[in-house]
Amino acid sequence: MKIGCPREIKNHENRVGLTPNAACAYVQAGHEVLVESGAGLGSGLSDQEYVAAGAQILPGPAEVWGAAEMIVKVKEPLEPEYPLMRPGQLVYAYFHFAADESLFRACLERRIVALAYETVQEGRALPLLKPMSEVAGRMACLMGAFYISSPQGGPGLLPMGVTGVAPAEVLILGGGVVGTNAAHIAAGLNANVVLLDISLARLEYLDEIMPANVLSLYNDPVTLETRLKTADIIIGAVLIPGARAPRLIRREHLKLMKPGSVMVDVAIDQGGCFETSRPTTHSRPTFVVDEVIHYCVANMPGAYARTSTFALSNATVSYGLKLAAEGVEKACRESEALRLGLNMYQGRITCKPVAEAFGRLDIYAPAAEVIA
Ligand SMILES: NC(=O)c1ccc[n+]([C@@H]2O[C@H](COP(=O)([O-])OP(=O)(O)OC[C@H]3O[C@@H](n4cnc5c(N)ncnc54)[C@H](O)[C@@H]3O)[C@@H](O)[C@H]2O)c1
Repeated sequence: MKIGCPREIKNHENRVGLTPNAACAYVQAGHEVLVESGAGLGSGLSDQEYVAAGAQILPGPAEVWGAAEMIVKVKEPLEPEYPLMRPGQLVYAYFHFAADESLFRACLERRIVALAYETVQEGRALPLLKPMSEVAGRMACLMGAFYISSPQGGPGLLPMGVTGVAPAEVLILGGGVVGTNAAHIAAGLNANVVLLDISLARLEYLDEIMPANVLSLYNDPVTLETRLKTADIIIGAVLIPGARAPRLIRREHLKLMKPGSVMVDVAIDQGGCFETSRPTTHSRPTFVVDEVIHYCVANMPGAYARTSTFALSNATVSYGLKLAAEGVEKACRESEALRLGLNMYQGRITCKPVAEAFGRLDIYAPAAEVIA
């Protein structure tokens, strides 16, 4: 199969879909790998490294999208890429459809096959979301710590405190991969951490593994309101796979919070879990609503591109090799994990939460039926 890897064009997106080692694995399996010139530079990977791995370098996105049967990339296609998508072309990437209606329409109209990293599921685990969630969770805490400093408009709190002065309080909504990683870093910074979740099984696990300065609690509206009043940094990390994130913090809640407190909405790629969130970019990551600083960058791991590229490519390559070897239909028939990742198939929606998000159950059919 011809595997294409274009350069990412999202703002400050320096990751790339394939490392040279992953390209080599596809080549050794008998595939042709076509990489856009300069695609890896943001992650410190040169064209020469891809050539040494057996890939071909093509000059621009039109050549890569035009020749490849399967595109391997990081972020969802953006507007300039919409006309390049071809009917029946397999695009293996993050999509987060529920948060982006124009992408949803474009992919339907172009009749692509969308295999979305974020909904590939093994048991309860999301193996292709996990590596980026680890990065984003660890990073969320660093961003919160940075923006509560005085020069950034924050209250001037050192997160870990000093002798005789209390540390900051970090409130984390959602104790999954993002939340757990954020909590570990916050705890390591000596902050007081409160972690909220609604899964009792998850809370039990968190109680066992978290250090003493992390308090894990069941998330209900009263607990959330109480904790909002004392938090200095709030990290939004809830997820209902495929669906729009629930808006847990409403605009009226901001009045309860301390002025200058920082909210990091990691779940912004699924629409955000704060009502006042809107996607921002690494060029202008924050905005202020009612004296509360909002950080809502939708591609946080792009800031630590090299680490993220290796972590993502390591996770996607084994599923990608199966898709390339067997074709999407057979691979999805054999693997439930991949079937759950299939969001669109040539004009049909195959992921129910995505169809529900846009009221398009009329063109929804279960993946198993569509690829039978
Ligand atoms: N902005 C970025 O760059 C970026 C990067 C990586 C991940 N993400 C996003 O971060 C979010 C979290 O990802 P994850 O990998 O941690 O998911 P996860 O499935 O591991 O964890 C989500 C957790 O949210 C909990 N939850 C669900 N509803 C809740 C509620 N009402 N209150 C409290 N907890 C609730 C679940 O029980 C689960 O433990 C996702 O939307 C993901 O797409 C964003």
